[in-house]
Amino acid sequence: MEARKIKEGIYWVGAVDWDRRMFDDLIPLPDGTSYNAFLIQGSEKTVLIDTVDTTMSNVMLERLNQLGTEHIDYIITNHAEQDHSGTLPQIIERYPETQVVCTSKCKEMLVDLLLVPQDRFLTVEDGATLSLGDRTLEFIHAPWVHWPETMLTYLREDEILFPCDLFGSHLATTDLYVTDEGGIYEAAKRYYAEIMMPFRKIIQKHLKKVQGYKISLIAPSHGPLYDRPEFILDSYQDWVFNNPKNIVVLPYISMHGTTREMVKYLVDALTEKGVTVEQFNLAVTDIGKLAMALVDSATIVIGSPTVLTGAHPNVVYATYLANALRPKVKFVSIIGSYGWGGKMVEQLADLISNLKVEILDPVVVKGYPGTEDFDALDKLAAIIASKHKEHNLI
Ligand code: FEO
Repeated sequence: MEARKIKEGIYWVGAVDWDRRMFDDLIPLPDGTSYNAFLIQGSEKTVLIDTVDTTMSNVMLERLNQLGTEHIDYIITNHAEQDHSGTLPQIIERYPETQVVCTSKCKEMLVDLLLVPQDRFLTVEDGATLSLGDRTLEFIHAPWVHWPETMLTYLREDEILFPCDLFGSHLATTDLYVTDEGGIYEAAKRYYAEIMMPFRKIIQKHLKKVQGYKISLIAPSHGPLYDRPEFILDSYQDWVFNNPKNIVVLPYISMHGTTREMVKYLVDALTEKGVTVEQFNLAVTDIGKLAMALVDSATIVIGSPTVLTGAHPNVVYATYLANALRPKVKFVSIIGSYGWGGKMVEQLADLISNLKVEILDPVVVKGYPGTEDFDALDKLAAIIASKHKEHNLI
């Protein structure tokens, strides 16, 4: 469990979690994850940037041992969530001289969550600096990436940005740096969709701020490091600022095949009109894939049968999630079926109050769809295509 050298006096001392398959019991991790932490040895002061999840404390402590770390002056805590702060109590115990450097909001949270004693903190304002002798850290307050207390740390002389959760990817790998940008693009996009997308508007401001720094290396707290920072900065630029694309995301459930038939018909109609469709059967789909598709989609069409007067529970969950993730979608419609009545459309429409969208006329049929119902689906496809054209997406 050796530390990995980034450059003279800067080491990765994190942990790779190959086996973790869920985060917060909410987010699937098909490829595991890592918890990155860094030791910086300045000419006068030694600092640790973030720690690791409690489940892997021993891994990090061994790496510090291996480097012969007898003294840590400061632990920079960019974020209070336990996957980065979890080993803080053990570090504080082992290095009793250390001070925890963080925002005042982070201090409050670490006292609450980990019972860190009040007198162990050095709180820093936005733009504050900390000299390590020959190296200087600058702290950039960046709330909501991913909690309200988060900050980024910039190592001036080496032009390294330590953004904690921001720009991360859930990927277990032995590669310290990105080696396969195509592969990492998928992991980073999934991560952005699930964790960062709800804060897109705030991240726009953070990205503008980050542009003011000369950055040679981005070292996030999850996944490999970016020694070609423009790769991830350009990706975020697209996800956060650019218009959505000519894509309809269509999550659905079908209990007896009726809604599936409608989905199939609508997908064909949209395809003929030059609209790309990403279809997700919610009985089997990976919810992370759905979240990823929402990053670029201009339209969501939700497909559901009627169950006990409302939408299918899986559809309710997916709709609730889409609302919480706040994608830059512009249009929503609903298709589906019922046997004898219900309020499926009203229920789903009530679940998307966060989305600033135009709702296109739903197509909901009684029993199996007939000619008029298929005509209504053709009309819906035509409206979606014309709306995408109006927005210059086609
Ligand atoms: Fe990786 Fe918000 O913790």
